[in-house]
Amino acid sequence: MTDPQRDPEGPPAHDALSEAAARSARHTAVETHVTPERHERASRTDARPIFEIDSVSVFYSGTPAVREIGFHVGENEITALIGPSGCGKSTLLRCLNRMNDLIPGATVEGSVRYHGADLYGPKVDPVQVRKLIGMVFQKPNPFPKSIYDNIAFGPRVLGMKGDLDEIVERALRRGALWDEVKDRLDENAYGMSGGQQQRLCIARCMAIEPDVILMDEPCSALDPISTGKIEDLMLELKENYSIVIVTHNMQQAARVSDRTAFFTVDLDEDDHRIGRVVEFDDTEKVFTNPSDPRTEAYVTGKVG
Ligand SMILES: Nc1ncnc2c1ncn2[C@@H]1O[C@H](COP(=O)(O)OP(=O)(O)OP(=O)(O)O)[C@@H](O)[C@H]1O
Ligand SMILES: [Mg+2]
Repeated sequence: MTDPQRDPEGPPAHDALSEAAARSARHTAVETHVTPERHERASRTDARPIFEIDSVSVFYSGTPAVREIGFHVGENEITALIGPSGCGKSTLLRCLNRMNDLIPGATVEGSVRYHGADLYGPKVDPVQVRKLIGMVFQKPNPFPKSIYDNIAFGPRVLGMKGDLDEIVERALRRGALWDEVKDRLDENAYGMSGGQQQRLCIARCMAIEPDVILMDEPCSALDPISTGKIEDLMLELKENYSIVIVTHNMQQAARVSDRTAFFTVDLDEDDHRIGRVVEFDDTEKVFTNPSDPRTEAYVTGKVG
């Protein structure tokens, strides 16, 4: 994957990243006006790929975890990754912003193209990648700082231009949190509810103007009302962002996503548990008329 000779025809990765950065900077000028009621799933033909995942395998200390994964993630779409525990959803998600680079012993094979350029190309700066491709985790992880400083942290570190108060307000509005916290910005984020903390983490992610948001079970620790707020938020955000979400909640995947990848986990000949994608399609098709009997068994709750 780090071989620069591999695709001499492709555009240089750093150019694609700079273009993506320019695009994401334009988000600052765009406010979202889409209500969930107006959410319509894009049809397959609309999708312009933001990620092209091709034959991706990931190993931990030489032991394979996922093998030969391949599908495209569409721009301005929500893509759901579903499947039983241990099938490699988080592992694959981490390939999309090079977070696996930070795990000792993890190696990635195959190709991930981002806006057409090799995400693992030799000129690509993983720090820049993680700025453009933000991540929200299962457990809200605010810093032990004020609400304001949580949001301002990234823009300060990156030396982002503009009025910091405005940057913070804009991010909190995008995180659907402003009205709830505007009078307590100086309070410690640990005093917020779990649902508010998770929206704070989404707002913190957006403060640095990413292009893509990766979410790994962002609602699993939340009640249905907070979950609903985050789902509404995702539907608003997809106007301007591309989102990949891992979820164990089938209703959630069916409600919010345009496309769904279904993973299974099987034992290989060496008794390793290997995750694979057995079906990738429009969400509606995956949930109403799946092609693979394993998908059907899973989405109807017969296994998993
Ligand atoms: N840091 C790591 N070191 C070693 N093995 C790992 C690491 N992270 C994941 N694995 C292994 O890779 C496989 C896939 O794990 P992963 O966490 O990606 O699955 P998952 O689908 O996200 O599961 P869950 O739904 O439980 O979160 C598992 O066998 C897991 O033990
Ligand atoms: Mg996981």
